[in-house]
Amino acid sequence: MLKGKFNIFILTGAGISAESGLTTFRAEGGLWSGHRIEDVCTPDALATNPDLVCGFYDERKKAASKALPNPAHEALAELERFWRNAALGNFTLITQNVDDLHERAGSQNLIHMHGELNSAYCMDCSVQFVRHGPLEGNRECPSCSQEALRPDIVLFGETPRCLPTIEAALEACHIFVAIGTSGNVVPAADFAAQAKSHGAETLLLNLEIPELPVQFSDCRMGLASQIVPQWVSELLLKMNGTMQRSGE
Ligand code: APR
Ligand code: ZN
Repeated sequence: MLKGKFNIFILTGAGISAESGLTTFRAEGGLWSGHRIEDVCTPDALATNPDLVCGFYDERKKAASKALPNPAHEALAELERFWRNAALGNFTLITQNVDDLHERAGSQNLIHMHGELNSAYCMDCSVQFVRHGPLEGNRECPSCSQEALRPDIVLFGETPRCLPTIEAALEACHIFVAIGTSGNVVPAADFAAQAKSHGAETLLLNLEIPELPVQFSDCRMGLASQIVPQWVSELLLKMNGTMQRSGE
C-alpha cells in the first residue's frame, strides 16, 4: 500500500513567475534595485505614506493581471491533481509570491505565505476584501467607510501567514522542493533545512545555485519553465512505476 506514504512540500518564489514577465526582487534590475524596501514594504512606510505603499503594490497587481501562468505553474497543478487522484499523501504548495498565477494554472491546495495582491485589508474594522482595482488614493473601506484599507501583503517585519500549518507540513514531508527562490528571506529560507532535519529529500530547482547549499540533497539549475515540467514528468514516471510494482 502506497496511499498516504508520500507527503510532498513545494515552496515557490519569484523565479517561477519570471518567465511570465513578472520581475523578481533581487536580480540586477529587480524590484529591490528600483525601490528602497523601507519606503514601500515596511509597517513604518505604511504608517507614514500609505499611498506610496499602495501605489507600489498597485503596479505589481497591474503587471500580474496581464501575466499568464507558464509551464512551471502548470506542471505543479498537474502534479497536485496526480497526487490527489492517487491519494499518495499530502500535497502542500506554499508560495512566497503575491501573484495569482498558481491558482490560475489550476493549483488548489495553496498557501500565499506573504499575502495576495488581489486582496485588501481594513486596518480599522479588520475585514478582508477581494480587491482587483487600485488602492492608491482609493483606500475607503466598503464596510466601515474609514480611509483604512491596506494591501493584504506581509510587509518586512510582519509575520507570514499560516506558519503553524507550514511547520506541521514541513515535519511530515518526505519530499521538499524549493523553486525559483534566492533563499534570502526567513522563515522561508529555513524551510529546506527544517525538512531535511526531519528526514526529507530536499531539492532546489533554480536559475542559480548558491555555493555549498548544504540544506539540499540535490540541485538542478535552469529556467523554471523547463526544469519544473521535466522534474514533474520524472516524478510522475517514478511514482507510476512504484504504484505498478506494488499492484495499485
Ligand atoms: N527560473 C528559475 N529561477 C529563476 C528564474 C527562472 N526563469 N528567474 C530567476 N530565478 C531565480 C533567481 O536566480 C533567484 O535565485 O529566482 C530567485 C528569485 O529570488 P528573489 O528575487 O530573491 O525572490 P524570492 O526568493 O521569491 O524573494 C523572497 O523576498 O522581498 C521579498 O516578499 C518578497 O516574497 C519575496 C521574498
Ligand atoms: Zn473597515
